[in-house]
Amino acid sequence: MTPGRTAGTGPPEAAQHGKLGMERRDFLKILVQGILVLLSTLAAVTAAIFAYPARIRQKTVQFIDVSSEDELPGRGIKRVVYEESGRKSIVYLAREGDSYVAFSPVCTHLGCLVSYNRSQNRFLCPCHGGKYDASGRVIEGPPPLPLTRLPMKVEKGRVFVGFKV
Ligand code: FES
Repeated sequence: MTPGRTAGTGPPEAAQHGKLGMERRDFLKILVQGILVLLSTLAAVTAAIFAYPARIRQKTVQFIDVSSEDELPGRGIKRVVYEESGRKSIVYLAREGDSYVAFSPVCTHLGCLVSYNRSQNRFLCPCHGGKYDASGRVIEGPPPLPLTRLPMKVEKGRVFVGFKV
């Protein structure tokens, strides 16, 4: 028997090693669980960004001068072409009662640009046959949502439409 050891209790180093081994295993187990939770969270956030990119990434509204107040339609809907940062874009301005509304031309199905057909009084999407009425509501085809109504304001004779950036 080794001096300093009691018979029948086993070597203290072995007990110490066993205790350290357990602590190390517990630590590794917690570490692995923590990494898995972190990876799961990252995967969920990434999936959310891809699933709802517009809602997550577009946060602020920037108002852009699109036309003169004189160009607002007396009635019906008017297609307005404006230039922003050297790029031409369109927006539809519509009279609704005593006020105005601005419609985004982007189809809510897969993002093609709709055009307003005056004789049918509808917005038509050339890609998959989506149709919207003059209020922007879906009346036919695959679009899941009405046309997006954009914030607008008139200041000092100019019409400003708000776009999320
Ligand atoms: S993109 Fe407009 S109907 Fe599909």
